[in-house]
Amino acid sequence: MPKINLKLFEQETIHQLKKCQNIKELDNLFKEIFSKEGELKKISKIIPTLPPLEKKEFGKEFGRVKNVLLKEFERKKNELKEKFEKEKREKERLDVTIPPPKILRGHFHPITLARKKIEEIFQSMGFEIVEGPEIEDEWHTFDALNIPPYHPARDVLSLGKTFYLKGGGIMRTHTSSVQIRYMEKNNPPFRIIVPGRVYRLDEIDASHEIDFWQLEGLMVGKDVSVANFKAIAGEFLKRFFEKEVKMRLRPSYFPFTEPSFEVDISCVMCKGKGCQTCKRSGWLECGGAGMVHPQVFKNCKLNPKEWQGFAFGFGINRLVMVKHRIPDIRLFNSGDLRFITQF
Ligand code: FA5
Repeated sequence: MPKINLKLFEQETIHQLKKCQNIKELDNLFKEIFSKEGELKKISKIIPTLPPLEKKEFGKEFGRVKNVLLKEFERKKNELKEKFEKEKREKERLDVTIPPPKILRGHFHPITLARKKIEEIFQSMGFEIVEGPEIEDEWHTFDALNIPPYHPARDVLSLGKTFYLKGGGIMRTHTSSVQIRYMEKNNPPFRIIVPGRVYRLDEIDASHEIDFWQLEGLMVGKDVSVANFKAIAGEFLKRFFEKEVKMRLRPSYFPFTEPSFEVDISCVMCKGKGCQTCKRSGWLECGGAGMVHPQVFKNCKLNPKEWQGFAFGFGINRLVMVKHRIPDIRLFNSGDLRFITQF
């Protein structure tokens, strides 16, 4: 039987005990020493084999070491408990001066914000907000709007630019289709706006998208005139841009209006003096307009001798670009949060 140095065993155990970082490590060490198969048990098995004199001395020393170790374990256990409690208290302490973490919030897209503003302005002038389908048929998009097949305007406005769907139907190329849908079902007088998404097979560049937003307007009554259009469009533009803007109507052509105009506003960048944005002209184009063509009324079973009205179609993306000096239309569909969160 090897001779056991109890002193050394005591020192080594205390050394290991001091290294314990937490209660779990300490419990494991305790088991190694004090369990039924533990080190002390192993050592105690030597005692009966010793000669009587040594037995007494060894037994006494064994008892002392056992007591010392028990106390040391107890002491260490209390120390670790205290340390744990202290750390816990520190972790849980509330520092009310620490700024809270930034909470990411959803954000409206600039087009949505513009739509809300547009709707608010027109509602205050008695206009109703109307919607229509984005998947359309040729009647509502072209024919009822006096754009027969093979008419050159069909090409300019749409035909070569139309997305045709496999199962039939087309993506609407302008919100004017909703004019027809509304007039087919409602009797004048009325005033509506239709903010909506439209699709055109245009070549994408800084000012052209294939998927953009238009604002259609339609006001029909017994004596609605171009003067009414000028007043309403002028008021809308002033409130949308939050500043006085000059407006001018240039003669133009649309098959569904007669007379027809192109609507320009004085350049908001240079106040009409001429700059890069307005190509030195001092004017920016924002959409088309005109008096509803008699044939369009007839197509909707309304009597053109009884009713007259104006219609207009502005590009919402372009209006927002001018208002916020956005240099490239592609930013709207980019999904880039750095762009979107600026508004
Ligand atoms: C039309 O779409 C007519 N329906 C407007 C209208 C309505 C006239 C009612 C008369 C009465 P136009 O194709 O010009 O017209 O488009 C109107 C506006 O949409 C343009 O002035 C422009 O602001 C915007 N727009 C047209 N194409 C694009 C495009 N590819 N990307 C972004 N905006 C566009």
